[in-house]
Amino acid sequence: MHHGHEPPPAPLLDPTALNLLIDELVEHGYSVRPDFLPAHLIRHLNDELRALESHQRLTAAGIGRGREHDLRPDIRGDAIRWLDRDSRAQRAYLEAMNALKDELNRALYLGLFEYEAHFAHYPVGSFYRKHLDSFRGRGNRLISSVLYLNADWPADAGGEIVLYDPEDDSREIRRVTPEAGTFVCFLSERIPHEVLPTKQARASVTGWFRRNASQGNLVDPSR
Ligand code: OGA
Ligand code: MN
Repeated sequence: MHHGHEPPPAPLLDPTALNLLIDELVEHGYSVRPDFLPAHLIRHLNDELRALESHQRLTAAGIGRGREHDLRPDIRGDAIRWLDRDSRAQRAYLEAMNALKDELNRALYLGLFEYEAHFAHYPVGSFYRKHLDSFRGRGNRLISSVLYLNADWPADAGGEIVLYDPEDDSREIRRVTPEAGTFVCFLSERIPHEVLPTKQARASVTGWFRRNASQGNLVDPSR
C-alpha cells in the first residue's frame, strides 16, 4: 500500500544539460544539445506526428501572420499542427519547455512568459529557405527551439538545419542533422537559418519562447 512517500518523478531535463544550453546560448546565441530529452518521449512524439500525418490532420505551413499569412511552397514546404496538450507526450514535452523557460528567466532575466510549439512534417524534397523567426523591435518571439524526432537519420539524407552568422548571413556557423533527441535553440531575432532539402520525410517539434509585446490594449495575437 502506498502512503504518499514515493520519490518525486525524475525531472525530464538533466540539470547539467540545462546549464550547458544556457552557457552556449549566452556565448554563441545558439545551442545544440543531443539527447536532450528521454528517448521514450521522442518516440511517442514521433508516433503521434506520424499518425497525424497519415490521418491528414496536418496543415500546409505558410509564411507571415494573420492576414499576411500565405502559402509559399517555394519558400517552405512543411505541414504543421500546433500542440494542444492532447496527449501525455505533448503534456510532458510542454512541461519540460516550461521548466526550460523558468531556467532561462532565472539565468538571463528574459521575461519569457509563454511557449508555443507545433509538430512539423517535411515531406521528401521539401525545405525552408533562409529566414529569421522574428524581427527586432516587432517580434515577440525571443528564443526558437527545434526538437528532432527522426531515429537513425542517414548522413546523406539532407534535411539539416543550417545556422548563419548574424553579422554576415552568408557565413554558415553550424549545420545540424535532424537526429532524434537533438534539441536546437537560438535567438529568434539574431540567427538566420534554413532547412536544407530533405531526401526523407523529416519530423520535428518547433517552438518559440515569447515575451508579451502588448501595447496599449493591443495584445499580441497568439500566433
Ligand atoms: C521554422 C524552422 C527549422 C527546422 O519552423 O521556423 O526554421 O529545423 N524550422 O525544422
Ligand atoms: Mn525558423
